[in-house]
Amino acid sequence: MGPVVTAGRVMTPAPITLVEHVKKSGRPDADDLAVLLTQIAVAGKIIARELARAALVGQLGTTGETNVQGETVKKLDVWANAVVVRAMEETGLVTTVVSEEMDAPLRLTKTGARGRYVVCFDPVDGSSNLDVNGIVGTIFSIRHGSDAEQPGTAQVAAGYIMYGPSTLMVLTTGDGVDGFTLGPTIGEFVRSHHRIRIPARGRIYSVNEGNFSKWEPGVQRYVEYLRGMDRATGRPYTARYVGSLVADLHRTLLEGGIYLYPADAGKSDGKLRLQYEAAPMGFIAEQAGGSASTGRERIMTIEPATPHQRVPLVIGSSEDVALAEDFIAGRRR
Ligand code: AHG
Ligand code: MN
Ligand code: MN
Repeated sequence: MGPVVTAGRVMTPAPITLVEHVKKSGRPDADDLAVLLTQIAVAGKIIARELARAALVGQLGTTGETNVQGETVKKLDVWANAVVVRAMEETGLVTTVVSEEMDAPLRLTKTGARGRYVVCFDPVDGSSNLDVNGIVGTIFSIRHGSDAEQPGTAQVAAGYIMYGPSTLMVLTTGDGVDGFTLGPTIGEFVRSHHRIRIPARGRIYSVNEGNFSKWEPGVQRYVEYLRGMDRATGRPYTARYVGSLVADLHRTLLEGGIYLYPADAGKSDGKLRLQYEAAPMGFIAEQAGGSASTGRERIMTIEPATPHQRVPLVIGSSEDVALAEDFIAGRRR
């Protein structure tokens, strides 16, 4: 939200913290959500601080291990995972956590009778950016109960923390999308983006085009279409790719356009994980007026079969996603 001009004076919007924003929603579970989000926020602050000094305290580089997904594990992946798990455990409200960095869902025994939420998260999204001081994020998704495998439509809240020039949390609790910037000197997440809406159509596409020759023909034709020249449809589109879903989705949310991580010859289900990447981002995109699809079906209604299930992801402005689906289905060529 930009500055407000009143009677010739420029005023900044009235400050409201993340916690007050959630409490003011008036929902019956507002107090629970305030506790969960306060603890996610504190994990985010601790992670932001560690990222800022990682090169000075030997926290860059890999552990030498490979995770359950067959990916190289960075030191900060493991460290940040422990921070988020412990922050969730301390709420007393979380029965189960599902993380990219843990082979299986973890039952939090300390929780006891108050436990009524499952939290799925990606502690460090975009870890390939860690060693080059690039943008990374934390993605989270909150559902009721203790069942680790629930569809995106069961989400109570979802969001991400983006560690960029500023640290920013973007959140939906099912009533639109808001952004909260961490005030570095006050240590509070304060609402800076009220009711984010994604434009119906954009002019930017975001995809790892190095995989072009491995994509199915419909995806290839769609990306070739975006690169074509036509003033009426705003083409060619501009290409942007950070390689952190958080950063690429955040730009898409604010400026419009499309992000794709399609299936390819080596990855029949794409790369991104349903529970803690695609579903939370899908919830956010839809709540901002956009769409999230595999290219063939809506992300939010997919029933997960396993905690680390992967799905192709096509997400962003609703008109751009619809057109991508037309190309993938062969309705457009
Ligand atoms: P993570 O670091 O949590 O494993 O996620 C990486 C994901 C996502 O952030 C990003 O959009 C994508 O992988 C990038 O993959 P490529 O390097 O294959 O483009
Ligand atoms: Mn990730
Ligand atoms: Mn990760």
